[in-house]
Amino acid sequence: MFFTKTPKETSDLGKKFAAALKSGDIVFLKGDLGSGKTTFTQGVVKAFGNKGFARSSSFMLVNEYNAGSIKLFHIDLYRLKPLSVWDIGIEEYLYSGNISIIEWAERLVGAENDNHWNVEIENTAGSERKIKIEKKK
Ligand SMILES: Nc1ncnc2c1ncn2[C@@H]1O[C@H](COP(=O)(O)OP(=O)(O)O)[C@@H](O)[C@H]1O
Ligand SMILES: [Mg+2]
Repeated sequence: MFFTKTPKETSDLGKKFAAALKSGDIVFLKGDLGSGKTTFTQGVVKAFGNKGFARSSSFMLVNEYNAGSIKLFHIDLYRLKPLSVWDIGIEEYLYSGNISIIEWAERLVGAENDNHWNVEIENTAGSERKIKIEKKK
């Protein structure tokens, strides 16, 4: 369990967490709007480097980054209805041998039993965030 008090601390935690990621890893980010999922991801992206390009559909937003020899996919499912999740080709990202980090992962119904990292961010009071990171295998 981690506690952060500023956006920078949350981003720095993401940067540190990135060191544990390996090709094929899937990261589920959970937490309310404004809890800090994107801020955490920005730290992960910083650790990996190069900006690739963004793709957007009416279902999901995908930012693709080059992470050495593999890719990092930052996927945001905010606009997605839970039942449509498997109709949008998301498995092409998840099971591609790259790294996927997914905001609003609650909407990925049916993927709960896949190996993944679970990162849950809670806005406790003011700018304090409680961040739980666990590996589900
Ligand atoms: N400790 C903190 N960690 C992360 N964000 C924080 C923190 N304190 C305040 N904030 C603010 O909360 C918001 C988080 O936004 P964002 O990362 O986009 O959330 P989400 O992607 O979960 O909707 C930002 O406006 C950020 O400045
Ligand atoms: Mg976000």
